Amino acid sequence: MNKSIKFGRLFVAMLKTLRSVVKFRRYERDRTLRALSKVADVGDLRRLAKKRLPGGCFDYIDGAAQDEVTAASNVASFGNYFFRPRVLRDVANVDTRTTFLGEEIPFPVMIAPTGFDRIADSQGELAVARAAERAGIPYSLSTMGTRSIEEIADVSEGRKWFQVYVWRDKPLLKEMLERAAAANYEGIMITVDTAVLGRRERDVRRGFSLPPKVGLGTIIDGALHPRWTWDFLRSEPIQFANVKGSSIVGDGSTPVTLSDYINSQFDPALSWDDVEWFRENWSGLVMIKGVQTVEDAKIAAAMGLDGVILSNHGGRQLDYAPSPIDLVAPVADAVGGETTIVCDGGVRRGSDIVKAVAMGADACMIGRAYFYALGAAGERGVDWVLDFLRAGVEHTMVLSGASSIAELNRDLIEVRAREI
Ligand code: GLV
Repeated sequence: MNKSIKFGRLFVAMLKTLRSVVKFRRYERDRTLRALSKVADVGDLRRLAKKRLPGGCFDYIDGAAQDEVTAASNVASFGNYFFRPRVLRDVANVDTRTTFLGEEIPFPVMIAPTGFDRIADSQGELAVARAAERAGIPYSLSTMGTRSIEEIADVSEGRKWFQVYVWRDKPLLKEMLERAAAANYEGIMITVDTAVLGRRERDVRRGFSLPPKVGLGTIIDGALHPRWTWDFLRSEPIQFANVKGSSIVGDGSTPVTLSDYINSQFDPALSWDDVEWFRENWSGLVMIKGVQTVEDAKIAAAMGLDGVILSNHGGRQLDYAPSPIDLVAPVADAVGGETTIVCDGGVRRGSDIVKAVAMGADACMIGRAYFYALGAAGERGVDWVLDFLRAGVEHTMVLSGASSIAELNRDLIEVRAREI
């Protein structure tokens, strides 16, 4: 056989082999779905959000107080909790449902309140509330939200919470509580870690304000992020939707830095008496958010509050505050069964949620995990991350030999000494 015929046959054989192994992915025309198809975890969502959002907006979400040590250790502390998986336990049917404050939820997660969601996507809090309802988990709206109490109620029939601060202006606060009651919010969470705003130095450097101030830097940043800028310019102005129209406290219709706003509006004299004031003016459920010691958890439980949220505000208030996951066991030992315990901070995977519940939490709250998702891919990003977390809880339970949430306990966990 001459050489060129031999080579031709070889070439055809190689093509056949290649055709049998190479499978091209169908080209996804939708940009958001194309981006999401390459996402594997919350870190990927964070990277996408960083690419898509102007620097000031991303830094507001990603940044934290001072050296950002607490923000980082909220996440890292989960790394000290290892599993003691049990095997051969028939995990063909794993059930991630649990009862949270009297009602069943599909997995033990709740949406944390975050301010300014519309800087990530023009739908803002509406997108998150809709995604939470689809996932069947409770949603919390921040007082500093860029969508109002009523707008959220209009798009979601799911469980809703309203987060409140101790405002100096009590009539305004009372009016907000009345609005939340009229809109069927099941509870309020009182944030108690914000006597003054934490010093977020990324925002200080950038002079970050709401709405974002338009200066030369913002124009350049906007030009470098055309999708975000187009979305921002096409939608109505971003404002503090819950105090809209209020000339007394300001509604964000002129740019204001968060620290000036909060430090002028919130009362640094807040005390346990204010918690009593809320109870007199609100008949639904009450949790306090920002508990960071066993002592304070005990006071809250003794007052008969419905829940304590172990939180350092995502490391955005006092730097070097303790990681919420490390508080779960001591707080559960002190007040578990008397009040609901929520672990808020650093959750990036379903396995983190399993760890917190095994240590004694009733549920976890997520903040940045969904905020990155909103910035990365809008509402579909939030759907993605909620499904990722739910599937992660199930996967971890399967691999650790637990078939139900009730089976998650400390036997499942080995806490290793922290390596500094
Ligand atoms: C608001 O609550 C914030 O942490 O920025």
